Amino acid sequence: LDLAQIKEVYEDDFLIGNAVSMGDLEGPRLDLLNHHHNLVTAENAMKPSYAYGDDGSFDFTGSNELVERVAEEGLLLHGHVLVWHQQSPEWLHSREDGTPLSRDEALDNMQAHIRNAMENYDAVYGDGVISWDVVNEALDGDWSNPEDWRGQLRDSGWLRAIGEDYIYEAFKYAREVADELGREDLVLFYNDYNDDQQSKAIAMYSMIKEINEQYADENPDDTRKLISGVGMQAHYNANTNPENVRLSIERFIELDIEIGVTELDVTTLTPNETIESELERQAYLYASLFQIYDEYSDHISRVTFWGLNDTNSWRSDRSPLLFNDTLTAKQAYYAVVDPE
Ligand code: XIL
Repeated sequence: LDLAQIKEVYEDDFLIGNAVSMGDLEGPRLDLLNHHHNLVTAENAMKPSYAYGDDGSFDFTGSNELVERVAEEGLLLHGHVLVWHQQSPEWLHSREDGTPLSRDEALDNMQAHIRNAMENYDAVYGDGVISWDVVNEALDGDWSNPEDWRGQLRDSGWLRAIGEDYIYEAFKYAREVADELGREDLVLFYNDYNDDQQSKAIAMYSMIKEINEQYADENPDDTRKLISGVGMQAHYNANTNPENVRLSIERFIELDIEIGVTELDVTTLTPNETIESELERQAYLYASLFQIYDEYSDHISRVTFWGLNDTNSWRSDRSPLLFNDTLTAKQAYYAVVDPE
């Protein structure tokens, strides 16, 4: 903990975040978290599947415990996630036999979820919640024609039940709830992965642009963008070309909304963290990324790592983070704090 604090190195540029579970909020893990970060995302606790009791009624007991700890530490919180095809109860949009609910039933469930989650966390942590991933990973096409984002929509339960405007409806409703809570400033993100691939970036860009135009047409008095943040999950590997990341950032800047790097990790190419050359390559990519993030820091509001150390990562077999099993800084850490 006598190492340079990442959050201090980038304090004039963007927030530094990490993904947390309860176990990160005590002991040496908490010390490391506080030393380098000023923002957190719940790695799992705030996902829809954790918001309901067995009888299907809302139950935020577990997640609130985590958010209360985060609040005690004074860390800012990015809400993750409201509408997603994973880690969400199927009954929100589908019947037991797998067929979709009617549009109205599914819309009611989606709106009830958005309202209850946003109100709950607002009651627990108020302004400490600075933003939400409203819709996550809605795009997953064959990319043959990425400008046609409708053709690239993921075949999810939400899409089948509500139709392709479920994304617009989710953001519109989240905006309404945020405004009712007096949170006109709350940033509403569309979040997705493979953000370095240009066809995906084009689809994300086209979707956000069109949805924001539709909202502007329907709400001429509201000068805000409906989707006010684009989340680049940034689940990369040591072979990712940083120049593609730059191209995506430049494209997203045209949307004139906040850019967030929301789930950054860089896997090694083989599942063996002892190969020195791989760790070097990983560190090199981290350095290139932070040089680019720094260059565009006027547009990037936060860079969030997806986990504190390799052992606890969702991709632990490829050692993707800055600290190793014993919480010791890897080359990747030194690359991040001194990327030149
Ligand atoms: C992952 C978590 O890290 C895992 O612990 C969990 O088992 C599955 O989800 N995109 C997202 C995150 O938006 O919520 C995912 O997190 C990683 C991919």
